Amino acid sequence: MKEELDNILKEAQEVKNNIKNLQDLENFRIKFLGKKGLLKKILEKIIELPENERRESGAYFNFVKDEIEKIYEELKKKLESKQFVKFDIHHPGRKIEKGHLHILTQAIDKIVNIFSKMGFDLELGIEIVTEYENFDSLNMPQDHPSRDMWDTLWIKSDKQRLLLRTHTSAHQVEILKNRNIPLKVIIPGKVYRHEATDSRHEMQFHQLEGLAVGESCNLQELKGVFYIFFEEFFGRKLDIIFRTSYFPFTEPSLEVDIECILCNGKGCEVCKNTGYLEVAGAGMIHPFVLKQAMIDTNKYYGYAFGLGIERLVMLKYNIPDVRLFHSGDLRFIRQF
Ligand code: DAH
Repeated sequence: MKEELDNILKEAQEVKNNIKNLQDLENFRIKFLGKKGLLKKILEKIIELPENERRESGAYFNFVKDEIEKIYEELKKKLESKQFVKFDIHHPGRKIEKGHLHILTQAIDKIVNIFSKMGFDLELGIEIVTEYENFDSLNMPQDHPSRDMWDTLWIKSDKQRLLLRTHTSAHQVEILKNRNIPLKVIIPGKVYRHEATDSRHEMQFHQLEGLAVGESCNLQELKGVFYIFFEEFFGRKLDIIFRTSYFPFTEPSLEVDIECILCNGKGCEVCKNTGYLEVAGAGMIHPFVLKQAMIDTNKYYGYAFGLGIERLVMLKYNIPDVRLFHSGDLRFIRQF
């Protein structure tokens, strides 16, 4: 019996070298390990042996069977890994996920586009400005109470007092100094306030400043600019209210309310049942500001405005919480 088993093992070791693919391997399995294979046949014989011989042959049978199974497993591993490296031209390619611009960037692009059609040039300022740019040049000297309208984040510095701009108006005088008149400019950008955050307030948000100076700039033109802008941005004509207000850098000053997009002016939670929403500050540029840039205030007039960009986007897409914009939550970002 031992001899027979040895012969089977020897044969298996020889056949092993001729196995080139999975089909050969399957034939090998059927021949040696299959239900009607060589080992099965010999096992039937072993079972018939008298007890003492059976035990000995049985143990040797198990050894041979293990060896053959080892050969089989080894070959299987080798052949399957080879199969894997094979290049399958039908296999679909890996999908590369494409990103897209953030909704705020998309909105800024759109807003800039609308204003550029009305003849406004684009300017970009930097986020760290001097105290003079953010306040003094805009008719707000130190200790002027109106500075409290902006909770300011100051930056530690030895020479000038620096801060994170609280509004894009900080660039007005610099631009008036550097550009020829007449001019029409917009300045979009991020601004910072030291404020407690909630669903309507963030420490960082975006504004769009508008600035126009010329011999014939007036409030009528400013109103026209707003009518066109809102109609283009929201896709329909909106009722607009211009309310008198106060800013140190405009005279007269206005606040601009638009008909609530969400309830069509009927009154809802968002507009606190007034039917209108405040979206911008504006006015005729104060002569103090024009004089900072050496502009002849007998000859030239200007208007300016500041729009809150998050506010507009929240209204357009019915977004309930301003904090979502900077949350990094992809479920939010991928909607737009
Ligand atoms: N800078 C103002 C703010 O942040 C908004 C503003 C009001 C800008 C009137 C203007 C303006 O240019 O004329 O609240």
